[in-house]
Amino acid sequence: MCGIVGYIGEQEKKKIILDGLKELEYRGYDSAGMAVLKDDEITHFKSVGKLENLAKKTKDFESIGFGLAIGHTRWATHGKPTELNAHPHFGKFSYIVHNGIIENYQEIKKELISKKYNFLSQTDSEVIVHLFEENLKENEPFIAFEKTINTLQGTYAILLMTKAEPNKIFFAKNLVPLIIGKNDKKEVFFGSSDTPLIGLAKDVIYLNDKDYGYAQKDNIVIYNGKKPKSLEWNKLSISKLSAQKDGYRFFMEKEIYEQSSISNETLMGRVLKDDIKFENLEESFFDDINEIKICACGTSFHAALTSSYLFERISKIRVSVEIASEFRYKESLLQKGTLFIVISQSGETADTLQALKIAKKAGLKTLAICNVDNSSIVRISDKTLLTRAGIEKGVASTKAFTTQILVLWMLSLKLAKNKGKISKAFLENEIKNLLKVPTVLKVDEKIHEKIRRLSKRYLHGHGFFFIGRDIFYPLALEGALKLKEISYLHAEGYPSGEMKHGPIALADSELFTVALMPKNTLYEKTKSNVEELSARDATILAISPKTFDIADDFIKTKDHDHPMLEFLEMGVILQLLSLEISIRLGNDVDMPRNLAKSVTVE
Ligand code: F6R
Repeated sequence: MCGIVGYIGEQEKKKIILDGLKELEYRGYDSAGMAVLKDDEITHFKSVGKLENLAKKTKDFESIGFGLAIGHTRWATHGKPTELNAHPHFGKFSYIVHNGIIENYQEIKKELISKKYNFLSQTDSEVIVHLFEENLKENEPFIAFEKTINTLQGTYAILLMTKAEPNKIFFAKNLVPLIIGKNDKKEVFFGSSDTPLIGLAKDVIYLNDKDYGYAQKDNIVIYNGKKPKSLEWNKLSISKLSAQKDGYRFFMEKEIYEQSSISNETLMGRVLKDDIKFENLEESFFDDINEIKICACGTSFHAALTSSYLFERISKIRVSVEIASEFRYKESLLQKGTLFIVISQSGETADTLQALKIAKKAGLKTLAICNVDNSSIVRISDKTLLTRAGIEKGVASTKAFTTQILVLWMLSLKLAKNKGKISKAFLENEIKNLLKVPTVLKVDEKIHEKIRRLSKRYLHGHGFFFIGRDIFYPLALEGALKLKEISYLHAEGYPSGEMKHGPIALADSELFTVALMPKNTLYEKTKSNVEELSARDATILAISPKTFDIADDFIKTKDHDHPMLEFLEMGVILQLLSLEISIRLGNDVDMPRNLAKSVTVE
């Protein structure tokens, strides 16, 4: 994930770019850069590490008076975080910034190298600027840009400036966000989200996929499929906070809704046609690994528990999962050959960090699955897979959990392939299903509305049981945790088959049971367990693609043929259920009592 910003106008461009990038730093900050075009000259700066390094580097640079500027904050996918790999990338007289992945960059690069273009970086993005300059040899700039965009395959938000057309910024967008803003002073702004534009732009356009065009101070032209479009301006909020919430009532709600688009970022560059590839994780990393131990807390622990089913079932490797606060005092017997995985949204959880230190001390290979680059856990682990969920503001974790699950699913496949435990056809089918994830995670408004209505019934009673089997058991734990955190109602997650070993004694009409009944995993078994509860008058909310008549409330999910897709859809439903109950109870959804986003104390 990277962030891009752009500006056309009279103001100090350095400041606008640096302030804008600051708002986007959550999208990545392993390097940053900017370029300013003024008086037919382009000046550029790049630096490795956080934005403050770019600020230091540009300290003596001034850029007042009319001109253009583009900026980028990078989260490396192709090529290490070095200055050469930082954006903007440039040719002889043009500069670009790019967010996304150009999937066919290698073919384009080969072709351009044969035409004597010189590449300075290892990135996929650099091809864009050279290809543009190649196309410019026989075309006017806009046509050259259009031809360039038409050659690219993959995901992109691109800004391009060229001395060949020094009053225009060319832009294009596909599958990653790009927003254009303007104000009454004829200034134009670009951003990967609208927060950098707040206080500067008055009206904005949220570009659609495959939109491209150019902007100059008093003219913006957008094309889609060769035809110019009419411009649909929206008023930009003047409050950063409400803009950050994008019109949702709470950050948690926004974060639930953005899981679909965020999942694209998590999968990007990792799910290939017939393989799974993780950046910075060489194939040999798994050599001599014959066991996995995973440590985490809270929601991250539930992701860990889910993955234990996947690792054992798909990768055929023994897995143990431990709550970090237990592990750290347990004096576990750790053996070489064990891959020690820690999972943490924040990367700062004290117990998880300590567990990691214990594993390191015992000489184990360590791998972090984390959402925050440069966090303590990332710095200490041998290797990291970032979940790329973007900053999570709601205290109750939603998109962080979902992206952890995706990374773990991909990892189980990677390991299985590496160890020769799955066939080509199996992997291809899994990949097919991974690619469906963004669609599956789209919130179904009708289901949300239904949850909003039925949440009324679930405000009282003497407790909730969330039940499920197999991977739906950790999901039940997660559903219960979500509800507890923000509704303050008592909720427990249980394996369905375990209810009769004690908890069923609680069953009466004031006991609410949320039953996860996927069609692909032990449906009949779970159904019997739910029937046992219903026979004892428990109030049942069933979530299933199969109609279940005895349920008091029923949420019908889509008919997916893969358990992980059922898991992900049900995950969203459980998040919405706790959200709506909490809202009805009048609680502060984003900042529930007694909790903190990052638990840095033991
Ligand atoms: C639940 C939640 C917590 C965290 C736990 C671990 O919604 O957010 O249970 O999952 O505190 O935090 P991280 O993942 O940052 O290590």
